[in-house]
Amino acid sequence: MGSLNNKRVLLGITGGIAAYKCADLSRRLRDAGADVRVVMTEAAEAFVTPLTMQAVSGHPVHQYLLDPGTESAMGHIELARWADIILIAPASANFLAKLASGRADDLLSTLCSAASAPLAVAPAMNRQMWHNRATQDNLKTLQQRQVLILGPAEGAQACGEHGPGRMLEPVELVDAIRNCFASGVLDGLNVMVTAGPTWEAIDAVRGLSNRSSGKMGYAVAQAATEAGATVTLVSGPVKISSPDRVHTIDVTSALDMLDAVNQYIDTADIFIAVAAVSDYRVAHPATEKIKKTGDAITLELVENPDILAAVASRPQAPFTVGFAAETSNIETCAYEKLLQKNVDLIAANQVGDSDSGFDADYNSLLVIGRDYKTLLEKQYKTRLARKLITIIAEQYHAKNTTQDSRPQAR
Ligand code: PMT
Repeated sequence: MGSLNNKRVLLGITGGIAAYKCADLSRRLRDAGADVRVVMTEAAEAFVTPLTMQAVSGHPVHQYLLDPGTESAMGHIELARWADIILIAPASANFLAKLASGRADDLLSTLCSAASAPLAVAPAMNRQMWHNRATQDNLKTLQQRQVLILGPAEGAQACGEHGPGRMLEPVELVDAIRNCFASGVLDGLNVMVTAGPTWEAIDAVRGLSNRSSGKMGYAVAQAATEAGATVTLVSGPVKISSPDRVHTIDVTSALDMLDAVNQYIDTADIFIAVAAVSDYRVAHPATEKIKKTGDAITLELVENPDILAAVASRPQAPFTVGFAAETSNIETCAYEKLLQKNVDLIAANQVGDSDSGFDADYNSLLVIGRDYKTLLEKQYKTRLARKLITIIAEQYHAKNTTQDSRPQAR
């Protein structure tokens, strides 16, 4: 598996002879670990069949904007939200013109205008079309809007001419997409992340836990790795697999989590506590299964140590980031937690909705520092985690720059 693990790549194919290379491109993206969904324009179908692309991508190809069947399954807005990145390859001169003018008259152009994911285009066309003033103006417009222009390469063209306008090779496009996810903002730093729930035993088979799936914490660990950090993930019991290139330590209870954190925290530059740690544990868990007697029973609960607060109060504390799961008054409660636990940042999420927060694919975060506040709108946890990591990196570097530039005591 490669470094596109768990990345959602939406491959848009427009009309051009290079479309025949998209079967290979899709296969290579998948080999690199990406989940690929294909959208084809009508013109693309003249060069490669939807059936071929379905076979190589492993999913039905999306073609039509106003098709009730596909709209109810995964419609254009859902597809736009799904993508971590949109790659248009090949991107015809006509499609670049559509993008530049903001037209939305087919499925691909509509979802491009509805998406907030990064957009990359791999132009492919006859060299005269490439040099055409209108095409060049459109490219400048797209560049100004942060669209990533990949290529084109120069060489022999299908029309018999020679010059710029060949689509980059699939292997080059896969490398370019990989680079889009590698920001380097945490290069050389050690990051520790806690994730998932904890399980506090009541007896041999029962326990106290919560609905944390680990998705948010695992996405944060993965985003930190992509940003160049060496990541240690301390995880409570979850059903998802460990992110690529992350050192994962599996734990069960809050006390286990604290032990694992203490073992590795000395070298951490940044500590991010995403875990939903049980505030209480059973004072005297039974070693056997407790038998039903018909009478009420009482469990004595004792408070668990606060792992985040313990890390933040260390003499050489790393940059500390807490999460806050709140059902109301998010901002006030999160700010109180920031002060109480003396952490650098708090990422607060509203919990209680079925499609956001605990055990969901989506989340939104209000990120609060002592003199910082920003809202990250509801989106897939993987994308949200990348945005959070960018903020953490900025705040970490800002804090360290301030400390480094303070006058030194003689
Ligand atoms: O795992 P998912 O299904 O993807 O769900 C993600 C999430 C909703 C669990 C996550 O986004 C989240 O909000 N995590 C924090 C949940 C929580 O326990 O919040 P809290 O407000 O109770 O705790 C505040 C902070 O203190 C957290 O950073 C927590 O990790 C930390 N803490 C709490 C108690 C404790 N004993 N030790 C701690 O370190």
